Amino acid sequence: MSEVYYIDHPLIKHKITMLRDKRTGTYEFRKLVEEIAMLMGYEALSDMKTKDVKIKTPIEETVQPVLDGRKPAIIPILRAGLGMVNGLLSLIPTAKVGHIGMKRNETTHVPEAYYCNFPPHMDERQIIVVDPMLATGGSLTDAVSEIKAKGGRRIKCMCIIAAPEGVRKFTETHPDVQLYVGALDRCLNENAYICPGLGDAGDRIFGTL
Ligand code: PRP
Ligand code: URA
Repeated sequence: MSEVYYIDHPLIKHKITMLRDKRTGTYEFRKLVEEIAMLMGYEALSDMKTKDVKIKTPIEETVQPVLDGRKPAIIPILRAGLGMVNGLLSLIPTAKVGHIGMKRNETTHVPEAYYCNFPPHMDERQIIVVDPMLATGGSLTDAVSEIKAKGGRRIKCMCIIAAPEGVRKFTETHPDVQLYVGALDRCLNENAYICPGLGDAGDRIFGTL
C-alpha cells in the first residue's frame, strides 16, 4: 500500500510560490529550497524512533527520550537534490550523506545513473532521498531501485513539486516507500517539464540557465 503525503502547510505553500516565480534569482531560490526541505523534513521525520536515557538536570535525575539507532542517511539525487541537503542537515546535523547522480536524457527523458556513493550499513539506516522535482518519475524510481539494491530498506522520499504522472509511476514501482510532496501540479508538457512547475530546478539552484 503506497503512502503519499501531500504536505499542507501555509509556510510551505508560500515558499513554493516564491520558488515558482521566474523573477526569483539564484541566491533566493537556493535559500527557499533549503528552507522548504527543512520544513518538509520536520513533518517527514515525525516518526523517528527514540529510546529512553537517564540524565541529570540541575534539579533531579530523570529518564528522557533521545534518537535511537544508526544515524539516518540523506541521499540527494544530483544535481538538484543537493539543494535540499543543508535544510535536512539543520534538523539532523550528524546524518550521513550519500549521493546518486541521475541525468535525464534531453530527447528521450529517460534517466541515466552516472554516480553512486552510499554510506555503509544502508540496511540499518532511515534513508531520506531528496529531489525537488518528480516529473515522469523515472529518476526517483530508478534511484530508489539502486538504493534498495545496496540494502536500503527504510526509505522516505521528499519532492517539493510533483506531477501526477510521476507519483503514479513511483508508487506503482515502490509501494513500500513513503513519498512526501510539497505541491502536486497539473501535468507534464511535451518536454516532460512540470506545469506550472518552476522550470529546471538544477539550473535555477546552480545558476546554469
Ligand atoms: C531533474 C530533477 C529530477 C528529474 C525529474 O533533474 O532534479 O532529478 O529531473 O525528472 P523525472 O521525474 O522525469 O526523472 P535533471 O535530469 O534535469 O538533472 P539535474 O538535476 O542535473 O539538472
Ligand atoms: N526536472 C526539472 O528540473 N523540472 C521539471 O519541470 C521537470 C524535470
